[in-house]
Amino acid sequence: MNYDLVSGKSVQRVLVTGGAGFIGSNLVRMMVESGSYHVVVLDALTYAGNLANLTDVLDTERCVFELGNITDASRVRQVLADHKPSAIMHLAAESHVDRSIASAAPFVETNVKGTLVLLEAMRELPDARFVHVSTDEVYGTLGPNDAPFVETTPLDPTSPYAASKAASDLLVQSFVRTHGLDAVITRCSNNYGPYQFPEKFIPLMTLNALEGRPLPIYGDGQQVRDWLHVDDHCYGLLAALKRGVSGEVYNFGGDGERTNAAMVSAILAQTGASPDLCTYVADRKAHDRRYAINAEKAHRELGWAPTRNLDEGLQSTIAWYTHNRTWSDNVRSGAYRTYYETQYNTTL
Ligand code: NAD
Ligand code: DAU
Repeated sequence: MNYDLVSGKSVQRVLVTGGAGFIGSNLVRMMVESGSYHVVVLDALTYAGNLANLTDVLDTERCVFELGNITDASRVRQVLADHKPSAIMHLAAESHVDRSIASAAPFVETNVKGTLVLLEAMRELPDARFVHVSTDEVYGTLGPNDAPFVETTPLDPTSPYAASKAASDLLVQSFVRTHGLDAVITRCSNNYGPYQFPEKFIPLMTLNALEGRPLPIYGDGQQVRDWLHVDDHCYGLLAALKRGVSGEVYNFGGDGERTNAAMVSAILAQTGASPDLCTYVADRKAHDRRYAINAEKAHRELGWAPTRNLDEGLQSTIAWYTHNRTWSDNVRSGAYRTYYETQYNTTL
């Protein structure tokens, strides 16, 4: 913990892995703007990482960027030795279920091996805390009348993505028990909000609707997801950093269960696109039917609760994609890949 001479506030130095991705960039912005953190972003800038997500906060006194892959143990050790963070918030991951069905190996590499590299490196920082950002997908799927997932629901992952996240959760728990690591695990439902890579459902459907392109709905569109605004997830992660008990798991969810078809209807209504764009396509393999989260433990023990209502949050998210077409055009054309090179006058 450092003391800021200008503001008089104590400032915590935190390393955020995956800080150039969707949730990571929203979290980094929130932390920098709060004035309470000095953030070091460690990111490999895979296809999902985009430094333009951080333009407004990057390279300020409170936010520095380190290019690096979490599977590279010597690079990770070097970054930790250079910055000596008092906490790591671990968001770097391969995160897209469809990609894990097409090819599982990168998911094991980053999500399992990369997490292990970070855990080993944490042993050099005995007083630091590790916040492991996991997912509700580790619990598997629910039937229409099943009770929502609680933290003790058995792990039953369906996709290679979910299996790799479950494996990383178990590694974290093993380091808490074996090495006394100070770590908390969070498991969140589907996030929505600005800067989400447009292969994911909400930005994909919104941008296709705005461009008059087909909206590919998997199967019958009756799969249910529990949507949480990314800001609320980030508040939860900061609450877990501050108040979580080591070794514990905390669920976050939005009480926002909706079918995919209902989400598409809301997107069509706001963008004014024609319902004829809806195209029912082959279902995802082993598509989880329903996710629902019981977040009472986070309410009770972290003092966390969602602040955004789904209708309002979705409306503002669709408006963000509507008004930030340069950002999405750069992602869709691939131009975003040159941002780092231009900014740092080097090649990726
Ligand atoms: P994302 O795919 O948008 O971003 C992932 C980031 O990690 C990118 O910046 C990428 O460059 C970086 N990265 C990937 N592999 C790396 C590696 N080997 N080394 C260093 N950096 C690497 O993901 P997201 O949606 O922001 O998800 C962030 C985390 O939150 C993930 O761990 C994910 O499992 C979890 N999560 C996501 C959601 C959701 O709805 N998106 C919900 C619950 C949990
Ligand atoms: O539940 C948390 C998880 O939410 C996170 O762990 C993942 O990282 C995140 O990607 C998300 O996983 P999903 O598989 O639920 O998200 P996705 O955006 O890929 O899909 C949401 C739903 O929409 C899902 O039921 C599949 C469906 N879908 C998705 C796409 C991309 C479609 O019907 N058509 C599509 O083109």
